[in-house]
Amino acid sequence: MSIGLAVLIVAVSSFLLVTIAITFIRTGVPTIASAKAAQLQVAEYLRKRNALRIYELGAGKGDFALRIAQYNPQAQVDGFELSLVPFLFSLFLKRFMKGGERTRFHLANFHDVDLREIDAVAMYLMPAPNRKLQPKLLKEMKPGSVVASVSFSMPGWKPQEVMIAPNISKTRTFIYHMPPTLVR
Ligand SMILES: C[S@@+](CC[C@H](N)C(=O)[O-])C[C@H]1O[C@@H](n2cnc3c(N)ncnc32)[C@H](O)[C@@H]1O
Repeated sequence: MSIGLAVLIVAVSSFLLVTIAITFIRTGVPTIASAKAAQLQVAEYLRKRNALRIYELGAGKGDFALRIAQYNPQAQVDGFELSLVPFLFSLFLKRFMKGGERTRFHLANFHDVDLREIDAVAMYLMPAPNRKLQPKLLKEMKPGSVVASVSFSMPGWKPQEVMIAPNISKTRTFIYHMPPTLVR
């Protein structure tokens, strides 16, 4: 390998690592994939609700959004991700997974996205980002729309349902119908 190529590989790798670190510092959420069993439960739940426009907030490498699209042939799915590396991976994955033709990925902050016209959001974040997102969900999401949050509940909201995935860690997904019943 020439020295030029080695320098290029090191430079690109360093750049990608730095972008991952910066996004983590900005969002406080690492890019970790949710359990496939939980993704399938959410996809199936949204199919039963006949959700037509679905957003995934913090789409990571894209498999959750693509799985939702795969099991919801009636739906248009959009995934929003701030971190460059998983976003690029999602564009790659979209070409190979079923449902990719109805899935769009955006390199964007989901706090800047308009949620008024959509039927459902799915996400796998963490307690602090969930809490930060609550006022936006309450303000923008239309009555009867669905919030599906894998692993982490929405503080102060009574879930409509808690689904338990058939995997070893029994991943829980909290389902809310908007507007949620508040429990304080
Ligand atoms: C735990 S990962 C989940 C990845 C994927 N959704 C899954 O279920 O496998 C959460 C992702 O949310 C992204 N994220 C966090 N805050 C964000 C924001 N404000 N806008 C867009 N993406 C965000 C992070 O970069 C991270 O990739």
